[in-house]
Amino acid sequence: MTAVVLAEGLKKEYPGHKAVDGIDFEIRQGECFGILGPNGAGKSTTLRMVIGLTDLDGGSLELFGQPMYPEHPTLAKKIGVVPQEDNLDPDLSVGENLLVYGRYFGLADREVKAKMDELLLFAQLEDRKDAMVRELSGGMMRRLMIARSLVASPDLIVLDEPTTGLDPQARHLIWQRLRALREKGVTLLLTTHYMEEAAQLCDRLLILNRGQILDQGSPTALISRHVEPEVVEVRGDGELEILQESSHLPGRVERVGDTTFFYSNDAHVILDFFRDRHDLTCLLRPANLEDVFLKLTGRELKD
Ligand SMILES: Nc1ncnc2c1ncn2[C@@H]1O[C@H](COP(=O)(O)OP(=O)(O)OP(=O)(O)O)[C@@H](O)[C@H]1O
Ligand SMILES: [Mg+2]
Repeated sequence: MTAVVLAEGLKKEYPGHKAVDGIDFEIRQGECFGILGPNGAGKSTTLRMVIGLTDLDGGSLELFGQPMYPEHPTLAKKIGVVPQEDNLDPDLSVGENLLVYGRYFGLADREVKAKMDELLLFAQLEDRKDAMVRELSGGMMRRLMIARSLVASPDLIVLDEPTTGLDPQARHLIWQRLRALREKGVTLLLTTHYMEEAAQLCDRLLILNRGQILDQGSPTALISRHVEPEVVEVRGDGELEILQESSHLPGRVERVGDTTFFYSNDAHVILDFFRDRHDLTCLLRPANLEDVFLKLTGRELKD
């Protein structure tokens, strides 16, 4: 089957800085593909190249089996875009924003009006059609941005941090909506800083750092490839002492602030060891994507 997005050796350089440094990836029809990476890793730059907003400095990019560059106007209609920053028109109403956006794609107002109820329902904004955008909450704006990206019935939707800053209710609603789109065969490409979101939504993930790929694969494959299956978090005073006492325990140990993380295949051995230490708090949990992300990209701040 033809890939929806095929990127080979993708590069973008800014003066003195390689924002995207030769990355390869392939997105298949109907999958949800996520790009993870710390601030400044090159996620948005990658998405901007995919949607044709930023020229490549190297490599090649095919969408739906056709070269994206030189400029390919018929491709734009097949792609819905939700940028990282809200760019709704605050002086127009919710409904007017959808109409104006439709015009960019050559859609007549009557065509957008015919879809309006469906789009508003999708965004749970049925009773806000005439509200001015500046009166909406952050969550409503984000939902409207996603609904707006559907105006021209795209086959691929590219979302840059679709749920950043939203409350859990809004986030869960957006997850449901994105899953429903995927069920209909729409392909999704998104970035997120929420590892739970990546695990819940994405079929495959790519982890980017300083413009380069650290690894890619399904969430479960990444977890089993990079971290031990269970983690015991031990919290309390005297961390150095905990480390010294427990140096013989099986698995990998990491200390961050007042917490010592034991990544292990034998978590019960670690729990047993600390059983009588009532001065410490011990928490056993399965390893998750956040553990993978921190192991691969490091714990220090990136920008
Ligand atoms: N127009 C530009 N001019 C110069 N440098 C840029 C430009 N756009 C991005 N960069 C730089 O390229 C790098 C990658 O930026 P990008 O926005 O792609 O990161 P990101 O992974 O999306 O980060 P975040 O998680 O913070 O959104 C950063 O170092 C950024 O400063
Ligand atoms: Mg970004």
